[in-house]
Amino acid sequence: MTPPIRLAAVTTVAAAAGRLSDRTRILVFTGAGISTESGIPDFRGPHGLWKRLDPNDFTLERWVTSESFRIEAWGRRFAPDRPVYRPNDGHRAIADLWRTGHMIGCITQNIDGLHQAAGLPDEGVAEVHGNASGIVCYAEGHDVDVDDVRSRWEDGETDPRCAGCGSILKSTTVLFGENLPPGAVARAQGWTDGADAVIAVGSTLSVYPAAYFPLEIAGRGDPFVIVNEGPTDHDRLATVRIEGKAGDVLPELVGALIAG
Ligand code: APR
Repeated sequence: MTPPIRLAAVTTVAAAAGRLSDRTRILVFTGAGISTESGIPDFRGPHGLWKRLDPNDFTLERWVTSESFRIEAWGRRFAPDRPVYRPNDGHRAIADLWRTGHMIGCITQNIDGLHQAAGLPDEGVAEVHGNASGIVCYAEGHDVDVDDVRSRWEDGETDPRCAGCGSILKSTTVLFGENLPPGAVARAQGWTDGADAVIAVGSTLSVYPAAYFPLEIAGRGDPFVIVNEGPTDHDRLATVRIEGKAGDVLPELVGALIAG
C-alpha cells in the first residue's frame, strides 16, 4: 500500500507536541545523529564517516577474511586512550519520556549504548544494529568475556581467538552483510505493531530493514514526527518535521508532552 503523502503541516515543537499529546505508546527511532553531540560522528551528515571511509570496508566478509582488518579493529577498541562517550540532553529527554509512560520503546540503529547510559532500561531499547560492547565466538556464536579478551590483547594477542574452539572473535556490532540480531528485531517489530505514533531522531531513514519500522507506523496514518538536522529520505511522509539538533529539540518536545 502506498503510504499517504502528508506534507509536514507544522514545524514547531509546540504544534508537534499537540499532535502527540494524546499518545501513550510512542515509538522513538534513533540514528547516529542523536549521538553527534556526544562526540560520535554520524555516517551521512556533512562530516559523516562515509565521507572519508568506504562502507564496503565494513562487511562481515572482510572481518572473516582479513586478519589485518581484525587486528586494526581490536587495536582501536582496546587502545588505552580510546575516548569515553557520554549521553547528551537528547538521550536524557528520551529516558524522561520513557519514565513518564509516553513510550512503547526505543529502536536504535546506534551501537554506542548511550540510551542505556542516559537511564533508558535495557527492556526499553532494541539495538537493531547490535552494540559495540559485547564480543562473541564467530564459529559458535556464544558470548565471551570482554575483560579476558582485553587482557589477552594487552598481553600481545593482537587477533584474539576463542579460548574454547580457537575461532576468531567478533564484536556484537552488526556489519554489512550480517543478519540483524533476531531478538532485537522481534522486539522492534512488536513495538512497531503496538505503537500509536513515532518520533524519528537523527537518522536519514536510508538504511533498511531498520527504516521500515517508522515507515510502517507512518503508513497506517499514525503521527510521524521527524527531528533531524538536514533532509531525510522520507520527509514527505512526516506529519511534523522539525529541523534542529536533537539535544535542543527533544528536551523542549518531551517537556511539552510531560507538561501535558
Ligand atoms: N541532531 C539532529 N540530527 C543530526 C544531528 C543532531 N545533533 N547530528 C547529525 N544529524 C543528522 C545528520 O545530518 C543526518 O541527516 O542525523 C542524520 C544521521 O544520518 P546517518 O548518518 O545516515 O545515520 P543513520 O541514519 O543512523 O544511519 C543508519 O547506516 O551506515 C549505517 O549502520 C550504520 O546504523 C547506521 C545506518
